[in-house]
Amino acid sequence: MVKLFKKIKLFKKITLKIVILSIIVVSLLAISGLMTWQNWNNRQKISNLEEQINNIYKGNQQYIKDHPEFLGETPETPETVENPFSINGVIIADKKHPLPKDYNPGENPEAVEHLKELIAAGQKSNDKYASHLVSDYSGFRNYDYQMGVYNEYIAENGKQFADDFSARPGYSEHQTGLAFDLRVAGGTLYRGDDKAYDYYNDWVAQNAHNFGFIVRYRDQWQDSTGYKGEPWHLRYLGQALATEVFKSDKPLEDYLTISGGNYAKN
Ligand code: DAL
Ligand code: ZN
Repeated sequence: MVKLFKKIKLFKKITLKIVILSIIVVSLLAISGLMTWQNWNNRQKISNLEEQINNIYKGNQQYIKDHPEFLGETPETPETVENPFSINGVIIADKKHPLPKDYNPGENPEAVEHLKELIAAGQKSNDKYASHLVSDYSGFRNYDYQMGVYNEYIAENGKQFADDFSARPGYSEHQTGLAFDLRVAGGTLYRGDDKAYDYYNDWVAQNAHNFGFIVRYRDQWQDSTGYKGEPWHLRYLGQALATEVFKSDKPLEDYLTISGGNYAKN
């Protein structure tokens, strides 16, 4: 009987030791797990912060580049700028990025070849609007020609309207030789005053990337592009990039993360 009693006592002692040991081991594991998780969490937070700082830095650099007046410098103009602004090989002409006044590359032959294909495909489509496209278009416009276009807009509709739809000379994408205005019979711009226009339901807007073009201006993009919507104005980027930009559903300036919008000084 005494023996049995001793055995039970010993068993209880061992069990207690095992339980205490287990608690210690589990606690240690839990603490180390928690520390590893915290460590990972902290590293995650640091890397997020690093990314944010990096983005702010890049944004500031870009801002300073696009707003030279911020540092007391004069913004570039067509008279002062030496080369067209380009990023990743993409030439940009907008209200923040003027072209040199004498930049005269002429019509880009590759772009024209694809434009003709796009027009022919539109004509063959059963689309209510695109089937009326004509082969005539407005492509390359040099500085002086653009001056005439801009002044005509002002004369007919006033300066505000002109600036919403027409670039000042030296700021037009048409001067790159990579922009084209589509027309329909009678010389009217494609879907010019068309109230039924809907970018997501327009043959040109939805198919242009297959030919290497994007519809460059949309009303809701004016803060980035600087212009109101123009269903007729195409910009050639080549098929791969045009498709990427189209799929991003963003204005070109936002896709390339460069600033756009209005002129540096009005
Ligand atoms: N209509 C476009 C904005 C241009 O004049 O280049
Ligand atoms: Zn145009």
